Amino acid sequence: MAGKVAVVTGAASGIGLAVAEALAGQGHRVVLADVSEEAGREHAGRLGGLFVKSDLSKREACRELIVAAAAEYGSVDILVNNAGVQHVCPVEEFPEEKWDFMISLMLTAPFLLTRYAWPYMKQNGWGRIVNISSVHGLRASEFKSAYISAKHGMMGLTKTTALEGGAHGITVNAICPAYVRTPLVDNQIESQAQTHGIPREAVISDIMLKKAAIKRLIEPGEIGAAVLFLCSDAAACMTGSDLTIDCGWTAA
Ligand SMILES: NC(=O)c1ccc[n+]([C@@H]2O[C@H](COP(=O)([O-])OP(=O)(O)OC[C@H]3O[C@@H](n4cnc5c(N)ncnc54)[C@H](O)[C@@H]3O)[C@@H](O)[C@H]2O)c1
Repeated sequence: MAGKVAVVTGAASGIGLAVAEALAGQGHRVVLADVSEEAGREHAGRLGGLFVKSDLSKREACRELIVAAAAEYGSVDILVNNAGVQHVCPVEEFPEEKWDFMISLMLTAPFLLTRYAWPYMKQNGWGRIVNISSVHGLRASEFKSAYISAKHGMMGLTKTTALEGGAHGITVNAICPAYVRTPLVDNQIESQAQTHGIPREAVISDIMLKKAAIKRLIEPGEIGAAVLFLCSDAAACMTGSDLTIDCGWTAA
């Protein structure tokens, strides 16, 4: 199974980049979408793929991304909904425009991209959609209302579309990681260190890994490997599921 057309959002950095690298490494044609142009172009060039500059919080950009992928490669077979941001703030102070942005980017965009990619997958009788949710799609933590609402919503989208895709050879699954070593987490480490007046190492060990049985950050490549598995024939009967990679956080 190689040579599929794979669209990965938020692919200029972190998990999305690792996913694009893993898919390209298996011989798939990758379409990297990101608002960050310089890094996105550089990585797409290195991977022999296409870069599409996209602010996916905008509806039209979601449509244009799928149109661009299909225009270049003729189809969309794999969709990895990954782009996301975090904002940590008590609910009574949470900026309303930030809520709108995060829900647009992390819930509405995955819906729209699924909707626009669906006809290609249906026509081919084969499709793989992987939604990069979070352990916060399964559990809550305080001060992350928009993020956790979007990720819980993404779990509902995953299950609903999995039911609809079954008859068409389309599987839809979510991956729910705990803390992965990426710029998104690095920024949180820095801000929490300042907020609490403690060293970065203490933020990692005492806050981020407090609930984990395995006391380390997850590497982005480990999420890339999980996406490859979900796209493989071995996972053909996995759909509507959450693949939890959380170092044991939710086992307790
Ligand atoms: N890092 C973690 O610990 C962790 C854990 C669980 C889930 N996740 C999820 O994984 C996904 C990727 O996170 P990451 O840690 O790799 O972060 P990251 O910051 O390294 O990468 C996110 C990418 O999304 C892009 N992006 C931001 N706004 C965008 C927009 N409007 N349109 C298009 N692209 C946009 C950024 O430019 C960036 O390249 C997110 O959905 C995040 O919620 C991350």
